Amino acid sequence: MSELRIVEDWSDPETRGHTIPGARYTSKEFFEQEWEGMWTKVWLLLGREAEIPNHGDWQMEEVGPEEVLMVRQKDGGVKAFYNVCQHRANPLVDSPKGHVLRRFVCKYHSWAFLPDGTLNFAPDKEDFPEGNPCGKVRLQELRCETFAGFIFVNMDPDCKSLKEYLGPIWEDWEKRDIHTWKRTMANTMWLPCNWKVVLDNFNESYHVPTVHMRATPDTDRKKIRGTIDTYFKETKFDLSDEGHNRMVMKGGYGVGSTDEDGNIVDPLATQLKYWEIDPSDYKGRPEDTREALQKAKRKLGPDRGYTHYDRIPDEQFTDAFHYTLFPNFAVSVWSDGFHFLRARPHRSDPEQCLFDNWWYSSPASLEETATMQRGNNAGEANEQGEVEVTMLQYPEDSIGPAIEEDVAVFVTQQRGFRSRGFKGVYLSNQEKRIRRYHELIDDYIDGVLPKA
Ligand code: FES
Ligand SMILES: [Fe+2]
Repeated sequence: MSELRIVEDWSDPETRGHTIPGARYTSKEFFEQEWEGMWTKVWLLLGREAEIPNHGDWQMEEVGPEEVLMVRQKDGGVKAFYNVCQHRANPLVDSPKGHVLRRFVCKYHSWAFLPDGTLNFAPDKEDFPEGNPCGKVRLQELRCETFAGFIFVNMDPDCKSLKEYLGPIWEDWEKRDIHTWKRTMANTMWLPCNWKVVLDNFNESYHVPTVHMRATPDTDRKKIRGTIDTYFKETKFDLSDEGHNRMVMKGGYGVGSTDEDGNIVDPLATQLKYWEIDPSDYKGRPEDTREALQKAKRKLGPDRGYTHYDRIPDEQFTDAFHYTLFPNFAVSVWSDGFHFLRARPHRSDPEQCLFDNWWYSSPASLEETATMQRGNNAGEANEQGEVEVTMLQYPEDSIGPAIEEDVAVFVTQQRGFRSRGFKGVYLSNQEKRIRRYHELIDDYIDGVLPKA
């Protein structure tokens, strides 16, 4: 096995121990400290390059009180601006994406800005005591870099590079050609909970047997397995110096993958057949499908167009590599798919967040994904082959299977955080990633950035 195929350990910094009271999820004061100290200092995953392929294409996304306009430039690069006219603050655009033929024209007094942010037209330009604003006034720019096909922005002009910020994530993801992957599902909704409720949940698998498998108290924990094994003793937990973390769970086998007679059921059965493995050969021993799948993918993958397979380790063919990118992006990366879970704060209310439940697939696996995602409300693909975002309403709509079970708990937990009877969380070791992540938020608020 080549060196490229080894899953490296990350450094595992000690946590300091920390009180996490309910007010962190409900208080306006803490929400504001978090905004000033943390959100305005971190790299935020906000856009996707495929949304804006041509010069003049733009995408606008909100985060907290800000709206960020990402614009494709003539030289092929992307620039990001605050979506605010420099005349008297009217927002320049008011929809999620579009294309400017020549200029962004403000709807208040028609000031017009070129895609590179320069003001190029103002009515009565000679009437300004400070001088003609054209060519002088510019849209306010944010730091903007791209990685894995995503557009990241940072409001801190003195921030470190995105590559330094991402640390070990950069190398882990680069091998999979994620920039070529297409969005195959995109469900988004506003939820009545703080954004950290969402991130806390995706920072642990302790809840899985209870929330997702309806366990009873006398259930043998070691036997609770879905198509991924979330049992903590078999899970690898990694923290990085940069503040991100990773949870690696073995996949491809488990009780949830068989019926009562031991026959392998979907979605594992479909996956096995796709890779020319007969599920009946594994009747009663679903745990052996993990290695069988790894071998089959290694052997058949390259000829089927899975071009990145020679660069990834066997584990990544089957296992769940679940990452949290600080601060608000949780993602399960598989060999060919990317479960994208992101929570953004509301503009002013600590008890609301914008939650995305999206999925990306590698080009070679699009057909397989479509089969696995039947019933997931996946929308229609656009010209770029990407499914458009569907805005759903809580509680009327479902955000998608399994994740809707998490959402139900988010909302009840938020209610609990308001109680004066709640004195702060009491965390297990397997929830250490939550502890570390709250410490980081506090470090940012105190002006201490991660050392790496
Ligand atoms: S606020 Fe934009 S032109 Fe006046
Ligand atoms: Fe969950």
